[in-house]
Amino acid sequence: MLRRHKSRLPSSKRFGIIIQQNIRMCTAAFHYLSELATQKYEASRVKVQKYLNAGSEREIIFVRGATEAINLVAATYGKMKLKPSDEVLITGLEHHSNIVPWQMICEEKGAIFVLCR
Ligand SMILES: Cc1ncc(COP(=O)(O)O)c(C=O)c1O
Repeated sequence: MLRRHKSRLPSSKRFGIIIQQNIRMCTAAFHYLSELATQKYEASRVKVQKYLNAGSEREIIFVRGATEAINLVAATYGKMKLKPSDEVLITGLEHHSNIVPWQMICEEKGAIFVLCR
């Protein structure tokens, strides 16, 4: 919901305000600002796709941080690819956000979690 009118702000800051609660994630947009925020959000996905030279904007997923990204990879790619007795190697230097998701998916898939020290 747009609570403040900040027309003198640069468009990136205005957008920051607009998107607070207006991006349509999976259902129909209900109002103008929601549609506008969704269009800008999707346009930024295309920009990132081109910048990274990704094959499709569908390959670009925005996440909140490293923890969410690693969990997503472990829960999707890891779940799809890991087989019983496969090994996942993790160094002893990893942040716990890069340990726990792999421990969990290894347990689920019967893979072997190896912590290299
Ligand atoms: C090496 C490393 N990995 C992952 C994280 C977690 O990152 P995020 O807060 O983006 O989930 C941190 C946070 O400090 C970190 O230092």
